[in-house]
Amino acid sequence: MIVIRHPETKEDFKKLYALRYKILREPLGLPRGTEKDDYEPISTHFIAVDSDTGEIVGTAKLFEKEPGVGQFSHIAVDEKYQHRGIGKMLVDEIEKLCCQKGYHTLGTLTRITATGFYEKCGFSKVGISGNLFGKLQMMWMEKKLNC
Ligand SMILES: CC(C)(COP(=O)(O)OP(=O)(O)OC[C@H]1O[C@@H](n2cnc3c(N)ncnc32)[C@H](O)[C@@H]1OP(=O)(O)O)[C@@H](O)C(=O)NCCC(=O)NCCS
Repeated sequence: MIVIRHPETKEDFKKLYALRYKILREPLGLPRGTEKDDYEPISTHFIAVDSDTGEIVGTAKLFEKEPGVGQFSHIAVDEKYQHRGIGKMLVDEIEKLCCQKGYHTLGTLTRITATGFYEKCGFSKVGISGNLFGKLQMMWMEKKLNC
């Protein structure tokens, strides 16, 4: 069974950053360290854990971009676990927390290649928004929350 929870221990964080690096940065040939951004300390982190093995198989994080607007990022699901609904489970949990916090909108800056996933989660394309590390074209996508 897959359980979504917040990381609690140093080991949880070590594993979530390792997963982020493996899925999001290593394939781009980027060095270690690039899997973190300036918003780590003010973000709420989420992990998807396989309760059979205890392994962290998915992750994402959320921070308040501006009053009432949540921004999530660094969503990554281990290759072996992709297309089993775990990405959607992470987004659902993020939305739940946004509602608890009273946000009206949730957005994300996504790779063009992943926009289909966010559309399935109810997000709409807002506009092209620069490059990630000069390598990937990014798109801002948003969803008005119906809490
Ligand atoms: C993108 C990602 C987070 C999606 O997580 P996932 O667990 O594989 O997705 P889910 O199984 O929850 O998929 C939910 C729906 O989105 C669809 N979907 C998943 N990835 C998709 C993609 N890249 N493009 C289009 N649709 C996609 C699924 O088919 C599913 O549709 P369905 O409900 O009709 O069956 C994951 O595949 C991943 O980590 N990819 C590599 C890293 C990445 O691109 N991260 C996003 C950075 S912006």
